[in-house]
Amino acid sequence: PKLTVVTRAGEESTLDVASGLTVMEAIRDNGFDELLALCGGCCSCATCHVHVDPAFADRLPPMSEDEDDLLDSSDHRDATSRLSCQIPFTDALDGLKVRIAEED
Ligand code: FES
Repeated sequence: PKLTVVTRAGEESTLDVASGLTVMEAIRDNGFDELLALCGGCCSCATCHVHVDPAFADRLPPMSEDEDDLLDSSDHRDATSRLSCQIPFTDALDGLKVRIAEED
């Protein structure tokens, strides 16, 4: 499936990603080092924060309480905020567009 990533500077790239990765892994493994993902995907750092295209909102897995709490610690949370390590990238999400969140 294809994933479009928008950097903080507004540059857009579309990646061809193997399914089975999380959105965080797909972004990180393609060299976007501004997505720090410090905890490596165990939902405890919030440095993998992205804004997800609202068109995909109802195809995303529900947010856990931990994810919700962590996002609350960000000054840049909005209705499109998710932690990218909590989103498995599947064929159902083909064409997904995410923007890397501002740095906290
Ligand atoms: Fe740490 Fe997602 S990588 S919460």
